[in-house]
Parts: sequence; structure tokens; C-alpha cells
Amino acid sequence: MSKFLITGNARLSGSIAVGGAKNSALKIIPAAILSDQPITISNLPRIEDIDRSLELLVDLGAQVERQEHQVIITAAKLQKHELSPTFANKLRASIMFVGPLLARYGRARFPHPGGCVIGAGTRPIDLFLAGWQAMGAEIKFNHGFYELKAKRLRGCDFFFTTVSVTGTESMILSAVLADGKTILKNCAMEPEIVALADYLNAQGAQISGAGSPTIIIEGCDSLMAGEFIVPPDRIETGTFAIMAAATNSEITITACRPAEIEILLNIFKKIGITFTTTENQLIIHKHHGLIACDIKTHEYPGLATDLQSPYTVLMTQAQGASLIHETIYDRRLLFTDMLTQMGANIVMCDPHRVVVNGQTKLTGHKLTSPDLRAGIAMVIAGLIADGQTEIDNIYQIDRGYENIDQRLRALGAKIERID
Ligand code: EPU
Repeated sequence: MSKFLITGNARLSGSIAVGGAKNSALKIIPAAILSDQPITISNLPRIEDIDRSLELLVDLGAQVERQEHQVIITAAKLQKHELSPTFANKLRASIMFVGPLLARYGRARFPHPGGCVIGAGTRPIDLFLAGWQAMGAEIKFNHGFYELKAKRLRGCDFFFTTVSVTGTESMILSAVLADGKTILKNCAMEPEIVALADYLNAQGAQISGAGSPTIIIEGCDSLMAGEFIVPPDRIETGTFAIMAAATNSEITITACRPAEIEILLNIFKKIGITFTTTENQLIIHKHHGLIACDIKTHEYPGLATDLQSPYTVLMTQAQGASLIHETIYDRRLLFTDMLTQMGANIVMCDPHRVVVNGQTKLTGHKLTSPDLRAGIAMVIAGLIADGQTEIDNIYQIDRGYENIDQRLRALGAKIERID
């Protein structure tokens, strides 16, 4: 298993370009099943989750031609309508293939999806199942597999009892080829949902309202060939911005959309970090000390739960107490135990809330990355700590951050990958 060795007390400088958004690309790849025409995706990040998703598509029988950051997918005729546990167990986003399979072939069989262990037990899929049921699918659970059938999905009126990003996207993918109109209410409003709807509309779909709580989809008979440029990853943007602040470094973040992390930049103003933005660039300046500030994660445009772990590390370097309230997932604060081992003063109030008392010196430690976002938070902790930090299980980090060690070395970080 690979590890990272990080030598701390880092001062970084220079510029870093943001890659394509994982959580956007992971929905466009399964969307390719909706059309029998070729789909070209560029600015595709080279990360483990994308590799798994493309392998899954090949396993289903699609043609996939990949070069560097581009892929051409043709899903003219798939031989299989079943998601193999080999892929489904590793990737929560494997569930995004189900709607397109049902829509185009009238059936799908899949095990409960895996992925980051950040929510209670296995992360639920009740909203997905309720959505397909509302569209007329017959659902059975046999020998560890969900089996779904529907001659043709039909439009429906569906209310999300919990706001869900992939739930919203799954219903869009299912409704595009359905018979009639689908009205989705209490939808998530993340930029990746808008990008998905714009892309499908360019292929001939009729989706309106993406980016608002109500989305209306008029079903159509088929979709044309498509082209998609994966937008910049707003979580990478925010992560690099927090990394710059935590190491008190001036870093220029390019190829990004600062407007998509507006809430983080507003928090930066409160905690003493200055920055300069243009439409596609963000410069984080050195600061003269950080002030603690409470946060509460929230659906977009609130503070993304995916930025909570890096922000928690940042607060170990701020003066005062900050309450970190993780509202979405109940296992995403467990990693703070490792920060405590490094010298942080963190009190867990309950699974959703910790208080970070700063400022504390961190000391290098042997750590294991439990999930993607906690993993990158540990990299940041390693960069600011005294001495050496070893991070195990970095597959979790490679799932979402392309060549992160190489890109951070270019900023002056001392980080080595040990295979
Ligand atoms: N939920 C249900 N039932 C469902 C689905 C979700 O109760 O059927 C609950 C979840 O347990 C959670 C809440 O709804 O409490 C919101 O979860 P959501 O469905 O929005 O999460 P997701 O769609 O599974 C996506 C991202 C996550 C990101 C969240 C929140 C993808 C592939 N994943 O997950 O990304 O944290 O939205 O923004 O888009 C990551 O990139 O590290 C990551 C985990």
C-alpha cells in the first residue's frame, strides 16, 4: 500500500491549477448510457474514482477511448445491465449508472453502493429507490442485489424529503428519456447539477430550473452525441485556498471559479485571510495571525461538507475556540482524533460537532487516511506540523486529487510517495 511522507513546517509559493471536478465527471460518464452516439469528455481528472467509473462502463459493454484528460465514450449497445460488486463496492457514484440503464434498457441490477464511510452505516439510497418507484419501476431485493424493471419510466411529481446531490442528479438522468413530465421539488442546487442539466440540454433534453429547488424535465425519445468540458473542481479550489492559509503561504490558484466558494471566502474575511480574485483565479495572501470562527456545513451555496475537514485543520492554527458543526454526515469528524494525536486541542461534543481550541502546535505522526477529504486534511496537517508525518492508505486521497504529491512539490512542499 502506498504512503505519503511529509516533512512539515512548510512554506509554499507559486501557482497551482485546479483540475476538473470529480463530482461533475462522475455523473457525465454514466449519462453516456442515455445516448447511442459518441460522447467526448475533456478536462477529465486522472483520479481513481474516474478510473473505476470508466472500468464499470467498459464492464457494461461501452467503448471507452481515453487519452490523458480526454475520453470518448460510445454506449451504442450494452451487453450487461448489472453493476458488478467489484466496482459498485468501491464507488458510491456507481449508483448514477442505474437511472440511465433503467431509462435506456428498462432494467438494472446492482448491489448497495460502497464508497467513503462518512455516514451512518452504509450510506442510504432510499431516496433513489423512492424516485424510481415514483417513475413506475418495479423494485425487488434478491440475494444482495436490487433488481429494477420498468418498460418505460414515466414522468412523476417527486419531493426530496432530504436534499441530496446525487439523488437530484439520479432523478434527472432517469427522467430525461421518460414518458411525460417530471417535476422534482426540494432539489440540491450544486453547480455540478447545473452543469449536468446544461450538458443534457445540449444533447436534446428539456430540463429547466437546475440550480433552483424545483427542476422540470420534459421526457424525450433520444439524445444526440455530446461534448462536455468538466468544470473546475470547487472542492480542490477551496482545499488549496485552505492549504495556503494553514501554511501561511502566498499561492495563486488558477483555472478555478472563486465565485463557487463564495461562502469560504466570506469566512476567510472573518478569520484574517486576505485574497485577490478574478473570474478564474484566486490569490491567497500571507496573513498576520488567524482568528477562530465557527462553521456549519450546508448544501450549496452553503459551506460544502467536503471542505469541513481541511477547515478543521486550519482552525487548529487560529486563536480561540471554533465550533465545527458537520450537519450532513455523522462520521466526518472522526478523523479529528488523529489531529488530537498530533497535538491539536479538539473536544468532540457529539458525532456532528467538535470544538477546536487554538492555536496549537502540531507534531508529525503516523496516520491512516480514512476517507478522501479527511485524507487531504491530514496532508495539510502534515505540512504545518513539526517533523515528519506518514500517511497510510493514500488510495483514498488519489480517489479525488490528481497527482497531489507532484503538484504540491511544485509549490515547494516536501512530500514523497512511498510505494
Ligand atoms: N441521503 C439519504 N438518502 C439517500 C441519499 C442521501 O438519506 O437516498 C442523505 C445522506 O445520508 C446525507 C444527505 O442525504 O445525510 C446528503 O447526502 P447527498 O445525497 O447529498 O450526498 P451524495 O449525493 O451521496 C455528494 C457528493 C459528496 C458530497 C455530498 C454533499 C458525489 C459523488 N458525492 O454525495 O462528495 O459530500 O454530495 O455535498 O457527488 C466527496 O467528494 O468526498 C463526497 C463525499
